[in-house]
Amino acid sequence: MKKQITVFGAGYVGLIAGVCLAHSGHDVTVCDIDRDKLAELTAGYSPIFEPGLEALLTEGLNKGNLRFFHTDDLPEVLSGIIFVAVGTPPTPSGSADMTYVRTVIDSVAMCAEPDTLLVMKSTVPPGTGVKLSSRLNGSGVEYVSNPEFLREGSAVNDWYRTDRIVLGGSEKAVSRAAALYADVEAPMLACDITSAEMIKYASNAFLATKISFINEIASICDLVGAQIDFVAQGVGMDGRIGPAFLKPGIGYGGSCFPKDTRALDFLASFNGYDFHLLRGVIEVNARQRMMPVRALMEHIGDLDGKRVAVLGLTFKPDTDDTREAPAVDIISMLAAEGADVTGYNPVPTTLTGPFTVADSIDAAVEGANAVIVTTEWPEICNADWAALVPGMAPDVLIYDGRNCLSPDTIRSSGARYVGVGRPQIGA
Ligand SMILES: NC(=O)c1ccc[n+]([C@@H]2O[C@H](COP(=O)([O-])OP(=O)(O)OC[C@H]3O[C@@H](n4cnc5c(N)ncnc54)[C@H](O)[C@@H]3O)[C@@H](O)[C@H]2O)c1
Repeated sequence: MKKQITVFGAGYVGLIAGVCLAHSGHDVTVCDIDRDKLAELTAGYSPIFEPGLEALLTEGLNKGNLRFFHTDDLPEVLSGIIFVAVGTPPTPSGSADMTYVRTVIDSVAMCAEPDTLLVMKSTVPPGTGVKLSSRLNGSGVEYVSNPEFLREGSAVNDWYRTDRIVLGGSEKAVSRAAALYADVEAPMLACDITSAEMIKYASNAFLATKISFINEIASICDLVGAQIDFVAQGVGMDGRIGPAFLKPGIGYGGSCFPKDTRALDFLASFNGYDFHLLRGVIEVNARQRMMPVRALMEHIGDLDGKRVAVLGLTFKPDTDDTREAPAVDIISMLAAEGADVTGYNPVPTTLTGPFTVADSIDAAVEGANAVIVTTEWPEICNADWAALVPGMAPDVLIYDGRNCLSPDTIRSSGARYVGVGRPQIGA
C-alpha cells in the first residue's frame, strides 16, 4: 500500500532509499540541509556517482512521487513513515558523532504526528536506539532499527537484492517496516533494537577482519615465497570460509569499515572490554597503506622530486567516494617525502590535496618513476600496460596495491613489479 515517506539525509544511503521507495510506488520526500545538493537533485542530476541511481531519480521526478526539500522547509506536521539516513561520522576519540541523528530525532519528536514510524537507517552504536526511543517518549512515534548493508558502487542493486533485512523493535513497528519491503525478496530477521544495531557493527567488523587477515597472510607469503593468489583461492574454496573479502591489497577504506571498526572498539573499551582482536585489524589496515610508500623508498631510494602516479582515488571502483580511501593517506605520505604526485580516477572526485589531477591514465603515468595502483577500477586493471610502460621513466616501479595487474606483462614490458603477497621467487 502506498505510504507517505520522509527521508532525512540525501547522501549515499538516504538517496538510494528515497529513489527505491519512490520506484516501489510510495510518495517520497527526501530532505537535506545542503541546498546545492537539493538544487542538483531537483534538476534531475545525482550529486553522487552510483550506477542506476540517476535513472530512478528521473523516474521519480517525472512520476511526481519523489521530491526534495530543505529540512527547514518541511511541513510543520510530519506523518506516515520517517527514514533517518543522516551521517554518523567519527569523532577524534573514535566514537560515532551522533549530533546529526539527535537533531533529527528532536525535530521529529516535536513535529511528528502520533503513530508515525521512525526507521533508523543510520549506523548508530548499540544501545543508541533504546535511548533515542525514550527521547521520543510522549510523542507517540514508534522506533525501528533497520541497519543498512548496501555497498557503494552497487547500491541500487543491493536495495532489491540484499542478503537480509534486519528490523529491530516492537512487533508492531517491525511489521509496519516490513511492509515497506514487500517487493524485496530477502530473508528478514526481526529482533530487539540493540541486537539489530550490533548486527551492523559485527558484520562490518567481521568483513574488516577477513581483509586484514588475508593481508597478514600476504605479508607472510612475501617472506616465505608463497603466492597469495593461490593461497587466497585455496582458502576461499572451503565452504565454511568462502572467497568473499579474501582479496589482499593496501587495505579497506570508505565511509563505513574504518569508522565502524573504530566505533565498535571505542564502545567495547567504554564498556570495560578489551577488544584486542579488532584493534589488531585496525592496526594491520593502517600498516597496509604504508607498504607502497615503503616499497618505493626501498626500490627507488629518496623520493624527493620523483614523479609518482597514483591510479584510483576512490576507496573502491564504481563510486566517487574518497572518504578514508587509501589513496588519500598514500598521497600525503608521498608528498611528505617530496614526491611530485599525479592522481587519476576514472570518474571525477572532489578530492584535493598535494597532487595534480590527470585526465587520463596515459597523462598520469607519462614520465613517472613509480606508479601505484590504489583502486581496482576495470579501466586501470585492463589498461594496455605493455603500451604504457615505454612512456614512463626507465626502470619504473609499478606497485600493484590491488593485485589486479599481470606481473608477467609488466615485467616483460621492462618495468619492475611489486604486488601484495606476490613474491618473484617461484613466480
Ligand atoms: N555509505 C554507505 O555505504 C553506508 C552503508 C551503510 C550504512 N551507512 C550509514 O548510513 C548513514 C549515512 O551514510 P551516508 O554515506 O549516506 O552519509 P552522507 O554523508 O553521504 O549523507 C548524509 C546526509 O545527511 C545530511 N544531513 C545532515 N543533517 C541533516 C538534517 N538535519 N536533515 C536532513 N539531512 C541532513 C547531510 O547533508 C548529508 O547529505 C551513516 O550512519 C553511515 O554509517 C552508510
